[in-house]
Amino acid sequence: MNVKNKVVIVTGAGSGIGKATANHFAKHGATVVVSDMNVESAQIVADEIVTNGGTSLLITANVAKFEEVENLVAKTVAAFGRLDVIVNNAGIGPHLLRTHESSLKEWDQVIAVNQTGVFYCMKVALTQFLKQGHGNIVNVASLAGLKAAPNMISYSASKFAVVGMTKSAAMEYATKNIRVNAVCPGYTESALLDQLINAKPEMDAILKSVIPMKRYGKADEIADAVVWLASDNTKFITGQTITLDGGTSL
Ligand SMILES: NC(=O)c1ccc[n+]([C@@H]2O[C@H](COP(=O)([O-])OP(=O)(O)OC[C@H]3O[C@@H](n4cnc5c(N)ncnc54)[C@H](O)[C@@H]3O)[C@@H](O)[C@H]2O)c1
Repeated sequence: MNVKNKVVIVTGAGSGIGKATANHFAKHGATVVVSDMNVESAQIVADEIVTNGGTSLLITANVAKFEEVENLVAKTVAAFGRLDVIVNNAGIGPHLLRTHESSLKEWDQVIAVNQTGVFYCMKVALTQFLKQGHGNIVNVASLAGLKAAPNMISYSASKFAVVGMTKSAAMEYATKNIRVNAVCPGYTESALLDQLINAKPEMDAILKSVIPMKRYGKADEIADAVVWLASDNTKFITGQTITLDGGTSL
């Protein structure tokens, strides 16, 4: 996959899908800005990339804070002269409550990170992309952004929003050498999935039973698709959602 020398920001890169994505970009020769609100975990990922011969820079950012997103992109451009790709991956999981039981606080938190955070990152990155005349956005949405996902109303709302923002922005910038796509993972091994299963251990068997492949996805498998969408191998693809779910959506 051709992403050599591209300057790439990955948000939420300290864990799970983001960590795997940062490592995959580095393996393919990209310069990776490892960003997360958890500085310790992000530092480990940034250091690992350098140890393995790659190039990385750690920039801490909470994507729910607009000034921090502005700082993330500004520091990236100051360090490397441009931004070629942003992967909007940072996200928080659902609380497994029915809609009438959901708290206002949980709703606000999930929307702030998963939806508004993606909007902030798109807005700031697109401003830079227009200045330099090219760019590429890969949003990490979810199967829950395409299909009904009961007992996770805020998560479902946020991920449908990410799919909508992906398609709308793809049309807005299609003539500007800027592509916008999304991946929609099904259940994927990560801290987020662990949290869900720890809260309701019976969910493990239930979830696996509805996946035709009878296993969870691996973060590396999602990362492969993200890097592919960001690469020069997919120049005519924009506004698309790639579903990676072991057949669940079938
Ligand atoms: N794991 C799954 O089953 C699954 C399925 C579909 C979609 N997703 C999506 O994939 C993305 C990554 O999730 P994961 O499963 O790797 O989870 P994870 O919990 O392993 O990693 C999420 C990372 O995002 C960071 N983060 C959280 N809030 C942040 C914020 N406000 N600003 C910056 N960083 C923040 C965390 O510190 C963490 O490092 C999320 O958007 C999630 O919704 C996950």
